[in-house]
Amino acid sequence: MAITDLAWPNLSRSIVDVDPKFLAVEALDVLIVGSGIAGLSLGASLDSKLSFAVLAKESPDDGSTPRAQGGFAAAISPWDNPADHLLDTMIAGAGLCEIDAVTVLVQEAAAAVGFLERCGVTFERSEGSLALTLEGGHGRARILHAGGDATGAEIWRGLAGRIDPSRIYGDTFLVDLLTDAQGTVVGAIVADSSGLRTIKASAVVLASGGAGRLFAQTTAPPACTGDGIAAALRAGAALADLEFIQFHPTALYFDSDPRTLVSEALRGEGAILRGAHGELVTQGVHPLGDLAPRDIVARAMFARMSAQGLDHLYLDATGLGAETLERRFPTVVAACRAAGIEPSTDFIPVAPTTHYTMGGVLTDLWGATSLPGLYAVGEAASTGVHGANRLASNSLLEGVVFARRIAETLNHPLVGGGAPLALNNPLRPFARDVKFETEYLRAKMTEDVGVVRTGEHLEVLAAELDKGALWNHKGSSVAEWELANLATLARGVAVGALRREESRGSHFRADAPEPKDFWQCHQVLERNAEGFVEISSVPLGSERADLPSSAVGL
Ligand code: SIN
Repeated sequence: MAITDLAWPNLSRSIVDVDPKFLAVEALDVLIVGSGIAGLSLGASLDSKLSFAVLAKESPDDGSTPRAQGGFAAAISPWDNPADHLLDTMIAGAGLCEIDAVTVLVQEAAAAVGFLERCGVTFERSEGSLALTLEGGHGRARILHAGGDATGAEIWRGLAGRIDPSRIYGDTFLVDLLTDAQGTVVGAIVADSSGLRTIKASAVVLASGGAGRLFAQTTAPPACTGDGIAAALRAGAALADLEFIQFHPTALYFDSDPRTLVSEALRGEGAILRGAHGELVTQGVHPLGDLAPRDIVARAMFARMSAQGLDHLYLDATGLGAETLERRFPTVVAACRAAGIEPSTDFIPVAPTTHYTMGGVLTDLWGATSLPGLYAVGEAASTGVHGANRLASNSLLEGVVFARRIAETLNHPLVGGGAPLALNNPLRPFARDVKFETEYLRAKMTEDVGVVRTGEHLEVLAAELDKGALWNHKGSSVAEWELANLATLARGVAVGALRREESRGSHFRADAPEPKDFWQCHQVLERNAEGFVEISSVPLGSERADLPSSAVGL
């Protein structure tokens, strides 16, 4: 039985002051929002008869995928099996993974690897077999990698090469989703350099990534402002588990935005976390030590840093040797050297940093959301595979597996198609300078919704977010829309974290430091027709069964 209450009372339907019927219209079968691994895997899997476009908010390679280092998890070696991968995923997820979704993930991993290889992706090999390494929370070496630590870049290159470049619309921002009178998603309002326009589509797929930019220190590139997730909420789609934000234990402690990741695979190959005096950090904390699930390592580091008044610790990769470091981790080595650190001889300064949005748009096993015609995949989605803490290198895998499932649904005749009209609606000039508000919001989120949270701080934050109601400001520029989206999701994260009076996975409350049986449930956010955003506690398994059939919209 769901327990429902009000998260906040006034979320407007749109962040733009325009009547879509006056906008130029392009009609497609499928509109894919996002050009990372999930969006491109879908584009590469759609039937050639279908018309589709992939929207890229900036340049198509400006998202998280090309920056992904460690790799792609798949139980493909003779000494591994999907059941072990499932178990590791469920353990890392701290009681909130959906077992059906994890089963799909691990069972379809080998096929996902085959798909990527057919797309031209070259994973590294050792003695003829795919080379595998270890990362945190995995009981076996099952992480495929490419280009040393440039796995995401190689995957992105392979997938992008499979898609006709004319189908990728760069510098095109998703403003809002369009729905018909029945609430079916029928397209989107988008903005590019020529202004606003409408793209109608029989299916819209949000592959638009996470909301890492909610935080001041993050590995997420500037594009990750949660635009798809916020637009879905405004349109009436259910979101789940926004309070679960993953902090990666080892981002390079160097003043860059985004922060550079120091891949967990370094610890998989033998690098060691050390405190200010060279002491070990995770000894006695967990049997897997530095390779425990990420939430546990990040918290152990945070505790050590707080106790000693430090703002970072160290990763000692000197034991790997210069040759291994340069061959296996060229990205990390280059970033370290740019920061004046020689990783073969110096300890690397590292600190836990916001890395991944575990919650998102609620989907079933086929990527269908609670709104007919709308699908979600990748970091924008909450498929149930990550629970309260994502297992390392399961995210690239999830993007491919669920994109292929959505393609299976959509590869049927769709209504729609047609040529774009020539009109457009030029945007008014930039209206507000929102830089200050955006930076302030990110700083507050970092302060109050970080590795360690308290009810007291969350309450103050939620009240402060209410005052500005920034989520309702109508905008006419990307910066304004991004701020509205960030403010919407900040409110969702804060309310979810405040309400969840327990500690579980990546969500740690100093004032409620243990998990509670009562809270072994999801929190689902939904906007009703009047603009009230309600939040419900929903038992595992149940809410996904109520989603509309994945065949809807065909
Ligand atoms: C890493 O290389 O440590 C990141 C992999 C991931 O985010 O799963």
